Amino acid sequence: MSFHKYIIKKDIIPSTNAYAKEILQEEILQNLTIITTTNQTAGKGQTNNSWESTPGENLTFSIIFYPEKIKANEQFVISQKVCIGIINYLKYRNINATIKWPNDIYVDTKKICGILIENILLGSNIKNSIIGIGLNVNQQVFYSNAPNPISMNNITAQKYDIDQELNKVTDFITEKLSEIDFDKSDLTSEYLNNLYRFEKICNYKRKNGSTFAGKIVGIDSIGRLNVQNECNEIETFAFKEIEYLF
Ligand code: BTN
Repeated sequence: MSFHKYIIKKDIIPSTNAYAKEILQEEILQNLTIITTTNQTAGKGQTNNSWESTPGENLTFSIIFYPEKIKANEQFVISQKVCIGIINYLKYRNINATIKWPNDIYVDTKKICGILIENILLGSNIKNSIIGIGLNVNQQVFYSNAPNPISMNNITAQKYDIDQELNKVTDFITEKLSEIDFDKSDLTSEYLNNLYRFEKICNYKRKNGSTFAGKIVGIDSIGRLNVQNECNEIETFAFKEIEYLF
């Protein structure tokens, strides 16, 4: 990696995403600055959930990203790049993971990593993006009502050095984010190649409560999920409009 890494390390803060947002109101940070904490006391998950992490056991960090060439209506590109970066990092650590649409990272049917991306928009541009990542590393037991957590240690029985893993995983993610002249359809193919349940017939529930057997066949330009139903029609779902049934 050729550029210098800027890392802001806090012993204890409520949320690295919230802290990043506060700092960004006052100053401009170096692109790809990383804010991390050993003890995140009020970690935010998607849709107002909280994020559990035993102090010192896992990675909880946010990356500040100034996307130069990504427009507001293309913001799903950021999720795709971050997911692929994390998948590549886990592969490097001999862990086979998949992306559960839109941006959870799964090992089999369990969640190893959650991502909360908060973009500050300015007209049709993204002023900055706060990419929050919670990666379960050494934690062995989870206490919250998170449905299906798993950690790297649960899989490999290894104890990881947290600082070293932060350095590695952020290398993989920032490498992906720094690719400027990327082809969007190549990125989508890479995303689909690593997508959980891609092209497999599985059970789902729609927002209206009806259930069906369907096959994920792709995503559209704004990142919505395309699922082919029993009648061979393609249904398009935005986040939270479809539930995966097991
Ligand atoms: C999810 O619900 O899956 C998203 C979880 C995101 C958690 C990370 S931990 C670091 C960053 N700071 C937060 O408050 N949340 C994100």
